[in-house]
Amino acid sequence: MSKRVLVKFSGEALAGKTGFGIESEILNYIALELKSLVDNGIEVGIVIGGGNFIRGVSASEGGLIRRTSGDYMGMLATVINGVAMQEALEHHGLDVRVQSALEIKEVCETYIYRRAVRHFEKGRVVIFVAGTGNPFFTTDTAATLRAVEIEAQMIIKATKVDGVYDKDPCKFEDAKMLGKISYDQALKDNIKVMDDTAIALAKDNALPIVVCNMFKAGNLLKIIQEEKDAIYSMVSN
Ligand code: GTP
Repeated sequence: MSKRVLVKFSGEALAGKTGFGIESEILNYIALELKSLVDNGIEVGIVIGGGNFIRGVSASEGGLIRRTSGDYMGMLATVINGVAMQEALEHHGLDVRVQSALEIKEVCETYIYRRAVRHFEKGRVVIFVAGTGNPFFTTDTAATLRAVEIEAQMIIKATKVDGVYDKDPCKFEDAKMLGKISYDQALKDNIKVMDDTAIALAKDNALPIVVCNMFKAGNLLKIIQEEKDAIYSMVSN
């Protein structure tokens, strides 16, 4: 059986230094990293956040926009990122389908679990957009849900840091990177690799959560191929 993974990365990652929108160079870099997985026979599902355009929580902070509407706005932002990533991956010759939790059929397919699995079987990359389709759920939770549904072997949370540390590495020089953490420890110690809903869902379904640096070229592939010099932290049983 070929390996199937779900890669989740934040919308902010696409924005680069400006913190807003999509920077072509970064989009292209990430597309090439993902392509290397597909080229090695790995089935790839993708979830991208929407924070480079809007975050539901922040949008609602001033009280003008209600949280529910803010979250729907955030879900729409993930659609923009998903369509951009589809274009970038297709530019490099990959076969890609975007599936949305909200019905926007002029833009992309609607999420249908069985159809997503069929796409993987045909060697296509599937990008899941619009979160879970519900407010009050993060894209981390959406990514975990999709990973469980498609029976991914792991969910990879690709971030700007190498993994999970015992304390904030930006503030403490002696912060140590943790290799392996249990779900319970992650929840108990409030290690915010993902929100609690996502971690609990991963725990219930024994889905390993890998946290790694997306800007270390080649690292994603090394992790999945279980190479010794792969750099990451893992939350698992
Ligand atoms: P198979 O039939 O399994 O080979 O899959 P397929 O995805 O190639 O077939 P389909 O004819 O369903 O899709 C052809 C193209 O139309 C693909 O690029 C799909 O992403 C796209 N497509 C399919 N359904 C929808 C939809 O509801 N909305 C939009 N916007 N595009 C769709």
